[in-house]
Amino acid sequence: MKNRLLLDALKCENSRGRPPVWLMRQAGRYMPEYRKIREKHSFLEMCHSPELAAKVTLLPVDRFGMDAAILFSDILVIPEALDMGLYFDEGRGPIFDRPLEKASDIERLPNIDVGDRLSFVKEAIALIKKECTVPLIGFAGAPFTVASYMIEGGSNKALKKTKKWMFDDPASFHCLLDRIAETTIDYLNMQIDAGVDALQLFESWASYLSFSHFKEFSLRYLEKISGSLKKRDLPLILFCRGSSAFAGLLASIRPCALSIDWNADLEELRKSFPPPLALQGNLDPDILCAPHAVIRKEVLKLLGAMRGDPGYIFNLGHGITPDVPPDAVQLLVDTVKYYH
Ligand code: CP3
Repeated sequence: MKNRLLLDALKCENSRGRPPVWLMRQAGRYMPEYRKIREKHSFLEMCHSPELAAKVTLLPVDRFGMDAAILFSDILVIPEALDMGLYFDEGRGPIFDRPLEKASDIERLPNIDVGDRLSFVKEAIALIKKECTVPLIGFAGAPFTVASYMIEGGSNKALKKTKKWMFDDPASFHCLLDRIAETTIDYLNMQIDAGVDALQLFESWASYLSFSHFKEFSLRYLEKISGSLKKRDLPLILFCRGSSAFAGLLASIRPCALSIDWNADLEELRKSFPPPLALQGNLDPDILCAPHAVIRKEVLKLLGAMRGDPGYIFNLGHGITPDVPPDAVQLLVDTVKYYH
């Protein structure tokens, strides 16, 4: 691996004068090269094929010069492996044939050998590691977010069924979260064995939880997962929507880094969360659809606010969206890389 900037920043030991840069969802539909492959293959076919997943993982690194690669896959491959019947509908997003409707449905979830059912991920990582000159980030969804998809049956902007179950029957909801956490631990340990250099957990729907419910239904499982990884020194990044509200709780479980949403003033937040905690974020992804002068100004503003910080990683506050023009991404990456 030639470029260790991300790993240095994760240890809060980056003294290069500019932070590493990568973007959540950097391998996606905003790239014409991605759309070209996608014309011939469904999204799940791409996830299931180690060769295609490896190729797509490397697309943004090769084109834009990111300082890290993130494995091309999806958080929903875990429920897919648990026989939930996943498919992706153009326009509607992910859908499960057999959503969980009641506590007894949890018993229906099979005990799986993750290394066997998700071997395509292991193989993709091995292929990527052969070619990649930057650190590779593996990932998984956090249990609350994954459970919400399994209960809602797909993307849902209200999470009414999930929260009803959580409040009506917290005991069985905990059973479900625990099942997902156990499978996720096996899955992340498989990624560690296969050679990832860092891991990120996505708790995308944390913002639906109150402070105390976040502690009970999310944080407890993030802690369980982070304490069960076989390589204790492998950097773990926690991403939450709502991370600025939950930063104190997240920091209390001692991850390597927090990925912060764009609502926070990162410079201010840094004062409460000093190194050795690394901080990642937090440009509003919609800025990438603005005129170039605005993108440059906003990127420079964030770089200036975090200037000299040895544990800062430049990223967005959430994933990049399909409508972002590729030249906006190049401008962002170049502005970070030539900053001094
Ligand atoms: O960051 C990366 O580039 C790595 C790959 C990655 C994808 N999904 C690829 C993807 C990662 C890390 C994810 C995580 C993911 N998946 C999350 C958590 C992160 C977040 O954004 O909060 C969630 C909630 C999912 C579930 C999921 N996958 C949804 C809701 C959708 C549909 C989105 C839509 O707008 O249609 C997906 C599909 C998906 N995952 C695509 C990609 C590149 C698009 C698939 C396509 O080509 O049609």
